[in-house]
Amino acid sequence: MEKFEEIKKKLKDSMTINGVVQKRYYHSLEVAKKALELNESLNLGLDSDKVYLAGLLHDAAKLKSDDCLWNIILKEFPHLVDQVKDTKTIWHSLAGPYIVKKEYSIFDEEILSAICYHTTGKENMSTLDKVIFVADYIEDTRDNSYTKEAKDASKISLDRTVKIILNQKVDFLRKSGRIICELTFKALNYYLEYGEKC
Ligand SMILES: [Fe+2]
Ligand SMILES: [Fe+2]
Repeated sequence: MEKFEEIKKKLKDSMTINGVVQKRYYHSLEVAKKALELNESLNLGLDSDKVYLAGLLHDAAKLKSDDCLWNIILKEFPHLVDQVKDTKTIWHSLAGPYIVKKEYSIFDEEILSAICYHTTGKENMSTLDKVIFVADYIEDTRDNSYTKEAKDASKISLDRTVKIILNQKVDFLRKSGRIICELTFKALNYYLEYGEKC
């Protein structure tokens, strides 16, 4: 997507530390690519520019300091403070829309929503939310045995893939004794019920 070269350059600069481009940048490119592939192969009919930008920028806040992310969450999500205070891994997704608006001047609500919930998921996600949630989990460089089931399902059904990923995330969090964010828990219940069809 040549028209987004400027945004890519900005993202790359923000993900370069001491002259070294961080893995996160290449992961971002892979997520954008996988999201486009899903849109195409599953005939989802989403606007490909939106798909690409959401994938490219989903982790735009990932390398910000904890202090920076936490201050954004305090301001933007006061109602979630209690449930996310001990789960730093999701801070960058909730803070993502704020960073993307401020640093990239992107205000499209669908893109911002997909960035916001790419880690936790939520109930009743939009198609773009689901595409980014799935692409983040199964992009080609994530070549782990645990992604195989989701990768296989992604060739057939987006909803089924979302359900598999939520199950795996909750299972992992449970087994490792970590806190399960209410957003993820509610998302899993929603897709278990809704997912009977898929
Ligand atoms: Fe992320
Ligand atoms: Fe990611």
